[in-house]
Amino acid sequence: MSGLITPHGGTLINRIADDAKRNQLKTEAASLKRIDLTPKQSCDLEMIGMGAFSPLTGFMGKADFESVCKNMKLTSGDIWPIPILLSVDKADAPKVGDRVALYATAPSTGQDVLQGVMTIKEVFAHDKDVEIPNVFRTTDSAHPGVAQVQAEGDTCLAGPVEIVQECVDPTGPEAFLDHRLTPAQTRAEFKKRGWKTVAAFQTRNPIHRAHEYLCKCAQEICDGLLVHPLVGETKAGDIPASVRMDCYQILIKDYFVDERTCLSVMPAAMRYAGPREAVLHALVRKNYGVTHFIVGRDHAGVGDYYGTYDAQNIFDELDKENLAIEPLKFEHAAFSIKAGGMVSSKTFPKIQGDQIFLSGTKVREMLGNGERPPAEFTRPEVADRLIEWATSEVAAKA
Ligand code: ADX
Repeated sequence: MSGLITPHGGTLINRIADDAKRNQLKTEAASLKRIDLTPKQSCDLEMIGMGAFSPLTGFMGKADFESVCKNMKLTSGDIWPIPILLSVDKADAPKVGDRVALYATAPSTGQDVLQGVMTIKEVFAHDKDVEIPNVFRTTDSAHPGVAQVQAEGDTCLAGPVEIVQECVDPTGPEAFLDHRLTPAQTRAEFKKRGWKTVAAFQTRNPIHRAHEYLCKCAQEICDGLLVHPLVGETKAGDIPASVRMDCYQILIKDYFVDERTCLSVMPAAMRYAGPREAVLHALVRKNYGVTHFIVGRDHAGVGDYYGTYDAQNIFDELDKENLAIEPLKFEHAAFSIKAGGMVSSKTFPKIQGDQIFLSGTKVREMLGNGERPPAEFTRPEVADRLIEWATSEVAAKA
């Protein structure tokens, strides 16, 4: 690991059982109390197991939960913005000292999979009145992240985990096993490529021209770029990860330099928590060996719950030394007809009607009608893959 950025908290965690231990855990699990994970909990478990959530070794206890919600720090003092909880209904809660088997459902087969085993160190009440306003800055149940927490169990289980199976659905269309690198693997890849500085681009959308512009600006100042789409649970209405992956590959092939670009997925769940999630996204990328993290307009936002640059401003409140990863802040970017290229308010004067802006709704409508958005907004090759998806969706619904 020498030469690369230090993981958050100092050590890259690995809670994935080796083959011998895996067999032992499978046998043990047969006699353990079973907990059925939600998709979000299953994503969190995978992230913890492979060290993407270092320094966490399991689901959080009460003291960390409160400290994270109120102070954006773990009790160790390390920055941490969003609680990582395993909540269940009180009636299903095991006792402290118990071991439990954690099951998740593979979406493509509907089969239940033993994902891990956990030792219960703490059982405590899920204080949603502390979590929701602090993490989301709103209590509005129309916010998808808020609604999700509201629907979660009233009792949290904390304790270290051991992973039996990292990817719950390895044969499904969203496994991307060739591109599902763990933090240890991305670190090895950067080392192999000789990259000392690496920028990461988080996204849950296809890469449009504005996204591409951010990526390329980052490439000008860093040795390499990690295109790191989030492929864990997203809200209904977001474009499926399998379609997005096709788009990323199509775009990278024609418009990026291979030696400077690495594509890998991050199996985390979206929370749509705007500023706090931007901090989580950055810390996690540090664990993946990344030194610079792209934060553009309304990062991880939804609706109009957050100000355009709230997710950038939050970084100014943080201890830079503990954060260690450098946020690369970008203004709202768009194609300017007069400039003949991508601009932002930092680089080109605003002229009424000069910049090409299309709302998400408008883009969807065009794609659904089999119409390419302008090439200044989306590369035609990407647009064609999106049209293929959008028209089949339309056909399926008809
Ligand atoms: S996110 O939920 O993953 O943040 P999205 O995939 O839309 O959503 O955005 C990925 C990154 O690109 C985020 O850092 C976001 O702030 C940034 N971004 C998206 N569109 C623009 C734009 N037009 N100008 C500047 N930054 C943008």
